[in-house]
Amino acid sequence: MLSKLFHRRGEEDIVSTGFYQPKRSKTSGRMDFSGYFLREQRPFFFLLGMLIATTLLFLKPHLLHQRLSIAHLHALDVSSFGHDQRMLLQKQSPRSTQTFNLYNQRFNAGAKIPLGLKRKALRVLVTGGAGFVGSHLVDRLVERGDSVIVVDNFFTGRKENVMHHFSNPQFELIRHDVVEPLLLEVDQIYHLACPASPVHYKHNPIKTIKTNVVGTLNMLGLAKRVGARFLLSSTSEIYGDPLEHPQKESYWGNVNPIGVRSCYDEGKRTAETLTMDYHRGAGVEVRIARIFNTYGPRMCIDDGRVVSNFVAQALRKEPMTVYGDGKQTRSFQYVSDLVEGMMCLMESDYIGPFNLGNPGEFTMLELAKVVKEVIDHNARIEFRKNTEDDPHKRKPDISMAKSLLGWEPKVSLREGLPMMVEDFRQRVSFGIREVVKREDST
Ligand SMILES: NC(=O)c1ccc[n+]([C@@H]2O[C@H](COP(=O)([O-])OP(=O)(O)OC[C@H]3O[C@@H](n4cnc5c(N)ncnc54)[C@H](O)[C@@H]3O)[C@@H](O)[C@H]2O)c1
Repeated sequence: MLSKLFHRRGEEDIVSTGFYQPKRSKTSGRMDFSGYFLREQRPFFFLLGMLIATTLLFLKPHLLHQRLSIAHLHALDVSSFGHDQRMLLQKQSPRSTQTFNLYNQRFNAGAKIPLGLKRKALRVLVTGGAGFVGSHLVDRLVERGDSVIVVDNFFTGRKENVMHHFSNPQFELIRHDVVEPLLLEVDQIYHLACPASPVHYKHNPIKTIKTNVVGTLNMLGLAKRVGARFLLSSTSEIYGDPLEHPQKESYWGNVNPIGVRSCYDEGKRTAETLTMDYHRGAGVEVRIARIFNTYGPRMCIDDGRVVSNFVAQALRKEPMTVYGDGKQTRSFQYVSDLVEGMMCLMESDYIGPFNLGNPGEFTMLELAKVVKEVIDHNARIEFRKNTEDDPHKRKPDISMAKSLLGWEPKVSLREGLPMMVEDFRQRVSFGIREVVKREDST
């Protein structure tokens, strides 16, 4: 039995005859190639193999183009770019140049992107993910099938904003302050951690600038260490009280470096500088989004931002407080539009910075009128003295995001406001009053 188990081919000669006979030469077998080739339908399988290989080679350019985001393919109207736009984007990112070339090949070839190809699920870190914007971003990332890790110190964020993901094994929540270093294995980092409303960021200005500088340094260090792509949520505040209107990304701003808002404005400007230095100096893949005023469900009630303030006041039957003459303008973007824009930017081949905002411009008085229409026609307005450094005008020029990312906001103020009011109505009726003080019209 054992001998049978160890029996090898060629040994049968010894076993059967008892004499050693030399093995048949293998080379003589190989020499008869034509006989071998023609046996057992081999020509058929050979031709089939050739056919499959030719088809794959033919399809290869399509697979290459899969690397371009769908947004680009829809949006890139290369001919409409100004020289400066091309140079800025191409200089900053060698991959952008590649994208231009690929797009042009793709565009000229008239080929199609293969549909239904699934992308790999990513592990994504969202700092500040328990806050207003962060929690909506988390919802979309989870919906897309990614594993999401939220890091938040709950200064202005709330567990309630992400609680609906607690039973999802793809979701993790870590209480951590980004001012302290952290090591995690992730593919992408959306860096949002920072108080965003004037009431909150002026509460502890030193902590605000530390979060923007040391926190951003820590997250960029992490991105460098684990090779993750990093997106900075910057702000329209980096334009300060702008002398150019509307604001293009090429505008360098008019910012007071020693004012009460500087901890935020200059903090974000430094965060942008650090982001670009890590890109140029350490090869980190970075993206910069300059976010304009955004509103929607889960905003802190009474956080000093004008939309949440007006809505909460109108719901409580209190007068809506307008600071100054109410003629200062702002643009208001619904949160789902912003999240879409941030994800488009992260997946694109462009660094930016990109303005992400709604170009529809409203004065404070016009906004109050819309709030009255949606909540209470009898709501009253009360005028107060304006606060220091409150910008007079703010309106994004989003032509870069439109042409390069294929992104533009879809939700108008009149559509978005009722969705926010519904969420606020529930929270106000439960008596949630997060911050009572009102600061300015941001
Ligand atoms: N909402 C807007 O209109 C707007 C406009 C421009 C820029 N932004 C930027 O978008 C980001 C998110 O803004 P938001 O409106 O969601 O604000 P938010 O205050 O609701 O969210 C910020 C989150 O960051 C967390 N956080 C703050 N400091 C932290 C720290 N040191 N460590 C860890 N977590 C910390 C907070 O607890 C909160 O969950 C911010 O970076 C903000 O500057 C927002």
